[in-house]
Amino acid sequence: MRSLLLLPVLFALAFSHSHDKSLDWWETTIFYQIYPRSFKDSDGDGIGDLNGITSSLEYLKELGVGATWLSPIFKSPMYDFGYDIADFYAIQEEYGTMEDFENLMAKAKELDIKIVLDFVPNHTSNESVWFEEALRGHEKYYDYFIWEDGVVDENGVMHPPNNWVSVFRKSAWEYREEVGKYYFHQFVIGQPDLNYRNPAVVEEMKNIIRFWLDKGVAGFRVDAIAHLFEVDKADFGGKLPDEPLSGRTDDPDSYDYLTHIYTTDLDETLDMVYQWREVFDEYKEKDGLTRVMMTEAYSSPQMTMRYFGEGERKGAQMPFNFVLISDVNGESSAAEIKYALDKFLTFKPIDEHANWVAGNHDNNRVASRFSPELVDGINMIIMLMPGIAVTYMGEEIGMVDGYVSWEDTVDPSGCNTDDPINYWMASRDPERTPFQWNAEKNAGFSTADKTWLPVAADYENLNVAVQRESENTHLNVYKFLADLRTEKVFRYGRYESVAFNEGVFAFRRWYQRKAYIVVVNFRNEPYTIDLTYFEGVNRSVKVVVSSIQSPKTSRDVLSANKVEIVGNESLVLKVV
Ligand code: GLC
Ligand code: MG
Repeated sequence: MRSLLLLPVLFALAFSHSHDKSLDWWETTIFYQIYPRSFKDSDGDGIGDLNGITSSLEYLKELGVGATWLSPIFKSPMYDFGYDIADFYAIQEEYGTMEDFENLMAKAKELDIKIVLDFVPNHTSNESVWFEEALRGHEKYYDYFIWEDGVVDENGVMHPPNNWVSVFRKSAWEYREEVGKYYFHQFVIGQPDLNYRNPAVVEEMKNIIRFWLDKGVAGFRVDAIAHLFEVDKADFGGKLPDEPLSGRTDDPDSYDYLTHIYTTDLDETLDMVYQWREVFDEYKEKDGLTRVMMTEAYSSPQMTMRYFGEGERKGAQMPFNFVLISDVNGESSAAEIKYALDKFLTFKPIDEHANWVAGNHDNNRVASRFSPELVDGINMIIMLMPGIAVTYMGEEIGMVDGYVSWEDTVDPSGCNTDDPINYWMASRDPERTPFQWNAEKNAGFSTADKTWLPVAADYENLNVAVQRESENTHLNVYKFLADLRTEKVFRYGRYESVAFNEGVFAFRRWYQRKAYIVVVNFRNEPYTIDLTYFEGVNRSVKVVVSSIQSPKTSRDVLSANKVEIVGNESLVLKVV
């Protein structure tokens, strides 16, 4: 009798005694992106700040998040809201002081939340001491930047050195009288590109990494990495060559006008990423903590994978996977979703992890790009697909793009359109509106009379406080998913996906004897699907969590061969 009772236990032991690799902190955590300017304002000036973040860290804990990456907090004139850094070693005053930063680090440590900072290596601010010294003719700093002579035409008029265009429109060259030359800027005029062919720049930037690692940060998100190097003019007879026309638009001011073969994705850029990883690893050598690098490049999958490393050389642990931003949206069919999601998994090196990014401060929100009904479905995907989850603040409650009038628009990408009608298509302000904490003034973000960007209109009904209070909310779905993904099946389990029809995308995760199926209906139409398509699914499946508009509730048991899915419904099902 006794031995019979023991049998299942032994059976379970035999199965669990597998070769589960022990996983490092970054391999299992959720990275939550905070845009500091819009998260929480502690001093009532209408601008989010470090003390605001410190006082809100418990919220991250509540979500089940173990790490946060912060958009830039460094000294900046804010032409590109902190991505134009005037002093890489100092905190922007309106965000706080170095002491505030240290308090943030201490509080994060207490809560076991890792802090990752934004490293912006491609450019500085034109108000940095480096650039100002360069203008004064200080040779050391002159060589920190990229200077070229203009081209004078037959009428004696001077033009930029070549046809290169800024990501934010118009020529990427700006003339400076003091120097009598043009400097190169891939982004706004206030963001002169650094010259990485100068070893002094390379060393300086490594020192910046060391400075913040010494302060205890757990890694960096690396900004705009594809743009780091431009071709060497020595290889082109001493003159930087024009880029070829793309044929995609006739607007010569548009970044899309050219194919960027000389200014993006160069081999030298990858080498620099590998050099930075060596710096990260020196720190790991010392204290055992892995410093994580995430790289931002909207590149081809082949190129993206090179950021992981090549041969013996290691690079980023997380080259961002942007398929959910660049490849699909609410119009996409289930097949297109499957095709996009399989991409990273198909191309990635076998020993590396995928990562899933559905939003950030540069792209419209999930509720706006897909639909408010698909918020839970997208969260199910980023949290339960194999790999690392990344969430942009507010996506856990389904925040919607805010309306920002032309008058209130501050993002250079919007302003540079000079177009009071269509600016909103280029502006990134809508996804940067203040975080919605509660139904009070300014959504609880700030006590100021005017916040730096207006609060989105629907905040009284869409905020953390409201979603904490009732059971059936995006926030609770998110927390449930954060908890669910700690199960072994989501850490180690295999993956298989299918598009059942035009609307329904589904995937199975399984490990040992456990299996789950995630179903997301991308169309606002009902379908009946047969889940016995999946191996191991025979009679029934049990609902563990469903999207908030779903008529199903958790613990509902469904006949697997005939599951009725309503429009835009998303489900996590356990195979029973
Ligand atoms: C990255 C940032 C973006 C910034 C740009 C220039 O794409 O995410 O916000 O404008 O780099 O630094
Ligand atoms: Mg403030």
